[in-house]
Amino acid sequence: MQPRPEPKDLKILHTEAEIAERVASLAREIALALPDDLMMVALLRGSFVFASDLIRAMHKIGAKPQVDFMTLQSYHEGTQSSGKVIIHRDIVDDIAGRDVLILDDILESGRTLQFAKSELLKRNVKSVHVAVMLEKPGKRKVGVEADFVGFTIPDHFVVGYGLDYANYYRELPYIAAIEV
Ligand code: IMP
Ligand code: MG
Repeated sequence: MQPRPEPKDLKILHTEAEIAERVASLAREIALALPDDLMMVALLRGSFVFASDLIRAMHKIGAKPQVDFMTLQSYHEGTQSSGKVIIHRDIVDDIAGRDVLILDDILESGRTLQFAKSELLKRNVKSVHVAVMLEKPGKRKVGVEADFVGFTIPDHFVVGYGLDYANYYRELPYIAAIEV
């Protein structure tokens, strides 16, 4: 087991309160655009915090989404993604005919979301949209964009709110740029 890398520097980009406010308005945007029979597919592991806050924010405005989970594995070396993505654990439900909203923690190169989108589009769905908590502009390697974005952030490696470094730091209630 790799020990938790101790940060040389950890700079908070978005506080817990800012995140809560942004997630509430994202929920309103999503409920307005996709009002009926929404199936959310949360990509694990990074989006579980975002997904759990978002569905409760949607409940507060009367939306009734369903939720499923897909675990993708993208290969990383340190903080760099190598590009190869595979399905480690698929969703359980049949999503044929459904409006699907993929949830992820962050859109960077776009490879993860392009893969997820093309996989779900093979399943006779009505539509596939994408919501991400974070996006880094100028980093796209493939042509995929999110329909709903929490925050656009500068090009730093970030942790917290579900995002990890070596599977640590997911528990931080804020989003922080980290240097190790
Ligand atoms: P993409 O496939 O390059 O768009 O990257 C998406 C995935 O890489 C995300 O789901 C994250 O798991 C991971 N990732 C990208 N940037 C960061 C970061 O700054 N911190 C933590 N994980 C990241
Ligand atoms: Mg991830």
